[in-house]
Amino acid sequence: MHRNHSYPAPRPPPSALAIIDGEHRSLEAVLRALRRYVGPLRHHRVKPDCEVFATILSYIETFADRFHHPKEDEFLFRVLRERTRDADRVLLALQHEHAAGPAEFNALKRALLRTRGGGDWEVEEFAFLLEQYTASQGDHLRNEDGIVMPLARRFLTPRDWEPIDLAFRANRDPFFGIGASGPMGSLMKCAVAMA
Ligand SMILES: [Fe+2]
Ligand SMILES: [Fe+2]
Repeated sequence: MHRNHSYPAPRPPPSALAIIDGEHRSLEAVLRALRRYVGPLRHHRVKPDCEVFATILSYIETFADRFHHPKEDEFLFRVLRERTRDADRVLLALQHEHAAGPAEFNALKRALLRTRGGGDWEVEEFAFLLEQYTASQGDHLRNEDGIVMPLARRFLTPRDWEPIDLAFRANRDPFFGIGASGPMGSLMKCAVAMA
């Protein structure tokens, strides 16, 4: 007897729009987790847990600074500039922020190291830099979500999206995305949940 098997239709690959949105939500979760530490650190209620912070910060370093931001510069922002001048100002500011990000981030990491064996002053310095960093990164994401992405949706053609889609599909979010089941993914989820 012949039986009909129904197989689920293959899922279309995710678009860059969906991937960028997902990556922004992951980064937001990380920033929220970091921000929750600012008050307790400042009021000396907790000492920084270097292992938790090192895990969260390595997520930003390995994923956001090495993959996410460079792909925005190289693919999305470049094409958007060719299609409209409306985004010029915000794109210039965002690219400066991408370029400045690693130095800001390294200052934060150095301040974290100084809290090891340091006193109240070192912890306060770390809390101050953490607050600054999370605020500036939050503004950065809001400008991309609120200004850049709507302009990209409006001005980019389906053909423009093709290389952008390909570039972002090649991203591998080591913690929240495809590699999230690995040991770093579990550790990261734990770190964010603890914050
Ligand atoms: Fe960005
Ligand atoms: Fe972004």
